[in-house]
Amino acid sequence: MQTLIIQGGIPLRGEIAVAGAKNVALKAFASAILTDDRVEILNVPLIADVYYMLDVLKSLGIETDIHDHSVQIQSFSLKNTTVPIDIGARLRTSSLVVGPLLARFGEARIPNPGGCRIGARPIDRHIHGLQKMGAKITYHPEDGFFYLQASKLHGAEIEFEKNTHTGTEALILAAVLAEGETVLKNAACEVEVDDLIRFLVSMGAQVKRIKEREIVIRGVSKLHGARFSLMPDRNEEVTFALAAVATGGDVIVRHSRRAHLGAFLKVFAQAGGSHEVIDDTTTRYVQKGPIQSTDIVTKPHPGFMTDWQAPWALYMTQAVGISTIHETVFESRFSYVSELRKMGAHIDFFDPPVQDPESYYNFNWSDRLEGYHQAIRIFGPTPLHDAVVEIDDLRAGATVLLAALVASGTSYIHGVEQIDRGYENIEERFQKLGARITRKEKEL
Ligand code: EPU
Repeated sequence: MQTLIIQGGIPLRGEIAVAGAKNVALKAFASAILTDDRVEILNVPLIADVYYMLDVLKSLGIETDIHDHSVQIQSFSLKNTTVPIDIGARLRTSSLVVGPLLARFGEARIPNPGGCRIGARPIDRHIHGLQKMGAKITYHPEDGFFYLQASKLHGAEIEFEKNTHTGTEALILAAVLAEGETVLKNAACEVEVDDLIRFLVSMGAQVKRIKEREIVIRGVSKLHGARFSLMPDRNEEVTFALAAVATGGDVIVRHSRRAHLGAFLKVFAQAGGSHEVIDDTTTRYVQKGPIQSTDIVTKPHPGFMTDWQAPWALYMTQAVGISTIHETVFESRFSYVSELRKMGAHIDFFDPPVQDPESYYNFNWSDRLEGYHQAIRIFGPTPLHDAVVEIDDLRAGATVLLAALVASGTSYIHGVEQIDRGYENIEERFQKLGARITRKEKEL
């Protein structure tokens, strides 16, 4: 386990560039299995999840090469259709290889992606759709694998019961080489899905979003190679904006994509955060006046993203008054609360009254374990102080890092590998903004 040591209380100032989107990169890698031609993906963030996903491809016999933020993948050498459990279990996106494997080779075997730190996270919505497209799927609890077979996938009309970001992408990947037309209703409209669609279209796929939540895919017989640059990571941009204002700093963000941040910028302005447009892809983030308390309900796109609520909670510890955050997408995404409390934050859990939780929440209410809470109240402003904290989830990790930058004294963050899953070289990039951060290889 590695540790970050942070001397807080220094306002961040300067310029930082947003990296390519993790949540497109991982899916673009899986898409490369759809062709034997060479695929080149540019603007790839050098983060742990990228290396884990490339390991998944390598475990199938696929050739991959990574060089200076560019990844080349050639699938003609693919020789097996089973993702080994030790490699697949490291990241849930490994399950996305099933569509391409089924479409091209008629079979796939993947370890159950299972639950993780932010909830049960089943893949029932993916499975239901793949079955409608003709896949035979069995789960073998004795080895923990899903076995999938399909002599030929066919198009189908599939209506998702609830939003699923990766589920929508999984079915698009299965449909692009299937026979006939697939219509995905109540499909996810996260901007990452559309970037993936652009990539697939550049490979010769016929995929079109015809309504906000409806995607039509016409199966084609073959895809070809392509060269594609990933869109910027909107979760990084939000992290940087909040790091700027929470530390009382002034940060210019390059490779900014404000159009992807609508719900964030709206509530950011309510909190007194200011974003100054410098040019199309450059934005300056600074706080104007005292930070105001806010009430947030996370929602699928175009709502306030679940990924943003953790760093937002940190920002709200510095706001005047009581703020609330109601998490509706995942059933357990408050692991950072205990760590912020160690730094002096005053945060309570509560459960807002909800009439019909099964239809209100994006997760399956029936999967929810006892003891979870769906909302927090943050009492501010509270001065934060140094602490020794531990993290077990990517966004929680970024939040605790921001908290340590705000806090007085020297904090120790254990489990920084979680931050490395989604943020490239975070300490060096924050150091350039004036942060005092060092990394220790071994736990202290
Ligand atoms: N769900 C089910 N069954 C399914 C699919 C989803 O019950 O078959 C539930 C999930 O457990 C969750 C909710 O539905 O409670 C929403 O899940 P969704 O499928 O939309 O999320 P995801 O695809 O698993 C992606 C991102 C997340 C991001 C969410 C929301 C990737 C690899 N992950 O997750 O990103 O928070 O969409 O936009 O794209 C992160 O980057 O840290 C991260 C967790």
